[in-house]
Amino acid sequence: MQKRSKYCGEVEIGDIGSRLVLQGWVQRVRDHGGLIFIDLRDRVGTVQCVCDPNAAPDVFKIAETIRGEFVLEIEGCVTQRPEGTQNPNLPTGEVEVQADRIEVLNVSNTPPFPIEDGIATDEMVRLKYRYLDLRRPEMQHRMFLRARAIKIIRDYMDARGFVEVETPILIKSTPEGARDYLVPARLYPGSFYALPQSPQQLKQLLMVSGFDRYYQIAKCFRDEDPRADRQPEFTQLDLEMSFVKQDDVFDLIDPLFESIVEQLSSKKLHKKPFPRMTHAEAMIRFGIDKPDLRFGMELYDITDIANATGFKVFQTAEQVKGICAEGCAGYSRGQIDQITELAKKYGAKGLVTIALTDDGVKSPIAKFLKDDEINAIIDRAGAKTGDLLMIVADVPKLVAQSLANLRNEMGTRLGLRDDNVIAFGWVTDFPLFKWDDDNQRWDSEHHPFTMPRDEDVELLDTDPGKALSQAYDFVCNGHELASGSIRIHRRDIQNKIFQLLNIPQEEIQARFGHMLSAFEYGAPPHGGIAPGIDRLIMLLTDDDNIRQVMAFPKTASGIDPMTEAPAPVDENQLRELHIKIVE
Ligand code: AMO
Ligand code: AMP
Repeated sequence: MQKRSKYCGEVEIGDIGSRLVLQGWVQRVRDHGGLIFIDLRDRVGTVQCVCDPNAAPDVFKIAETIRGEFVLEIEGCVTQRPEGTQNPNLPTGEVEVQADRIEVLNVSNTPPFPIEDGIATDEMVRLKYRYLDLRRPEMQHRMFLRARAIKIIRDYMDARGFVEVETPILIKSTPEGARDYLVPARLYPGSFYALPQSPQQLKQLLMVSGFDRYYQIAKCFRDEDPRADRQPEFTQLDLEMSFVKQDDVFDLIDPLFESIVEQLSSKKLHKKPFPRMTHAEAMIRFGIDKPDLRFGMELYDITDIANATGFKVFQTAEQVKGICAEGCAGYSRGQIDQITELAKKYGAKGLVTIALTDDGVKSPIAKFLKDDEINAIIDRAGAKTGDLLMIVADVPKLVAQSLANLRNEMGTRLGLRDDNVIAFGWVTDFPLFKWDDDNQRWDSEHHPFTMPRDEDVELLDTDPGKALSQAYDFVCNGHELASGSIRIHRRDIQNKIFQLLNIPQEEIQARFGHMLSAFEYGAPPHGGIAPGIDRLIMLLTDDDNIRQVMAFPKTASGIDPMTEAPAPVDENQLRELHIKIVE
């Protein structure tokens, strides 16, 4: 093997007349009237190599034995392709390499799927042969993009004085709301390490240590069912700062994400500066805490009008709200049934539609409503002829849930969710707690280290459900991209939160004793955030499946078809760990 002159995909007109040594994989071999053409591929691209039986008979002999995905070293002179054989679709399409030496560096079985873009192969097969799947240019592009995003992040953080500190993977359980992955401790029968759901506690402890500005490209582990945007193991840009308020976090994140989008995609940013809204406002306007801000179609509230009508469902409902689907007045019975079913899937008991057709108002409840009531609703909705109102009456939670999903669906149907637009935004002032009906207790909305708003600390004693927190989410196109908060740095408040969460004193000590102890040694005020890197890359690559942007992901059922993990272990290992499998 010799030293490579350059990548196959970089051979260009300027190389004409030069001898090059190229190495790569065989994309294609074609026998054309005595000449054999080999497309040689590497991570940059492919180049056409020509084997001529007259010019180099030995080379031609070797070429006749070559198959797809063989690994070759080809040496030869670069020439201009003859008139009429140029390929304008290929960056190297003007030139070819006249092979006068071929060394077969390795042979290959026929791959289970073509090593090219746009294949329709079943994902299980792609994951089983992930090393081949990752050979495909579109997958290589994703991995390179991911690496460039992380490089931009590291440079950005470094330039702003952040220090990268690695934190351990074998730790004690840290609560982020999911189940822990546990690792048995061989030396301590019955004891387990937990894999970090995030470095949350450790980054806070680093603030107590005085690092002031920490970040890490951190692996996180959560034993929850994978979904389209969720994997059991994923990566965060985890960061924490001392002596900051939440605006300082926003001011750090906004330019970083703006610059990532500008450098790595051709997408347009929807609005700058990124809009900020409170959680309450997001729920009122969009019915969801991660609104897709690329389009309007905001919810309107007609509870007062509806309660005063003669329609029973409206009269008695705690809340009546709707959306206005522009230009959908002509929806057929079948289409309306379909969206009604969708609303029901998300908890609505039904869906009232009011169509503003050229021939007047059409609605199944028209007979129950007076003209001025219908007009008041149309007015509140800001609707015009041609529009279709979709209205749900229920408790606020179900109204929000069903209308938020209908809004997203209608946004898709009406083409309002433009893939070329990225709409970042902040949602702030989340409630501190949510009520856990099953266990009849308060649960942290974010995590138990989140600081209440200064003005709400007193509510912890009187009305904890009303307390709002200094927690914020960074959202994008209907996804939650990051979560963070200003943390509690005072032991008395932290203790009170633990009590409200109904964690017994002994358990508080056992689980969080180290945190409470640290807070007694001069913990600075601090706060941070953690954007999900995988989700960021998904947005940049328009993937709706998080596995596409990870080199070696797990399937939706949590397995790795390539290594066949998880797998049973042998008896001896179990014995050493003092573990017995009970069927
Ligand atoms: P949180 O749990 O909200 O906050 O996670 C922050 C971000 O991490 C990403 N993320 C995931 N990505 C892929 N698969 C998953 N299973 C998954 N879970 C989360 C999301 C999410 O917005 N320690 C806090 C942050 C902080 O307070 O600083 C935390 O982990 O993009
Ligand atoms: P019904 O009186 O059950 O025939 O319902 C009349 C109309 O009201 C139908 O279009 C139902 O889908 C709709 N509807 C029923 N319950 C609700 C509700 N809670 N919110 C909105 N629409 C409803």
